[in-house]
Amino acid sequence: MAIQRLVEPITDDGDANEQIIEVTLRPQNFKEYIGQERLKKNLQLAIAAAKKRGEPIDHVLLYGPPGLGKTTMAGVIANEMSVGFRVTAGPAIERAGDLASILTNLQDGDILFIDVIHRLSRAVEEILYSAMEDYKLDIVIGKGPAARSVRLDLPRFTVIGATTRTGSLAAPLRDRFGHIHRLEFYQPADIQKIIERAAKILETKIDETSAEILSQRSRQTPRIANRLLKRVRDYADVNGDGIIDEKVTAQALTMLEVDELGLDPADRGLLSAIYENYRDRPVGLSTIAALTGDEVNTIEDHLEPYLLQIGFIERTPRGRKITPRAVRHLGGENNE
Ligand code: ADE
Repeated sequence: MAIQRLVEPITDDGDANEQIIEVTLRPQNFKEYIGQERLKKNLQLAIAAAKKRGEPIDHVLLYGPPGLGKTTMAGVIANEMSVGFRVTAGPAIERAGDLASILTNLQDGDILFIDVIHRLSRAVEEILYSAMEDYKLDIVIGKGPAARSVRLDLPRFTVIGATTRTGSLAAPLRDRFGHIHRLEFYQPADIQKIIERAAKILETKIDETSAEILSQRSRQTPRIANRLLKRVRDYADVNGDGIIDEKVTAQALTMLEVDELGLDPADRGLLSAIYENYRDRPVGLSTIAALTGDEVNTIEDHLEPYLLQIGFIERTPRGRKITPRAVRHLGGENNE
């Protein structure tokens, strides 16, 4: 079973109750959505233009590290367009027939959100091409010499694809998207607003300083911010009067082993493993994975992006290197 770290922005195999809370905290429209200003501006324009023409918006590809709001943004687009929102994921569409049944059940204008779109199989991907390009579904009926191919008309729809890596997406698929946008890590001030908004929805009192402290430890990621808030709220409910103040925040964060930069034991373990075995020399991802016991994908998608963002790890042609700044944070020797 996958171990879920507190600061890991995974929902796929997470606790069902956590997922329900996460959904209730999700902004429904652009007005509620904090941050990602450039993306919002681009999408607002595309939506206004599509509405004016009475057409669906062009297909959208959202990429970036987990937890930054790709699914949320897709839902916002559907709400702003006042269209239906269907959610699926690359690995869930196993066969061409699965995709055919999803596509033929769409209504005109619907948005089909495909999470982890880089994990679609080749066979499914190929059907998606023509569906995205001219709203036609090419399917083969029967087998052997009796097989024939038929072309069905589909309703006009929009695919919103989400991926942590555009590099893993086949070029012909990537080319079908009219909008390709990267979600950025959030400014701490925006994360603070997200925490204050979530606290209000959860009917929890939190003072400004505590919200600021939590915002600095949320790895610039809303999903982590909301999760930390919920854990600190648990702590406040059990050990206090339910109010999140500086004292409760400090105690809860110590208990959770989340440090001033939002790093948890898994992040520090990764950095230490590199430092203890390789110092400032580059090391390959699979070697790091063997050292820490993590999967290569987990490191690439969940651990590394933030460590790269804060300049604790560098990618070099010969592998990953840890930086003097990271060594200082670990309290080790400084090679600078
Ligand atoms: N909750 C999670 N992400 C959010 C965002 N970007 N804005 C407002 N609330 C959020």
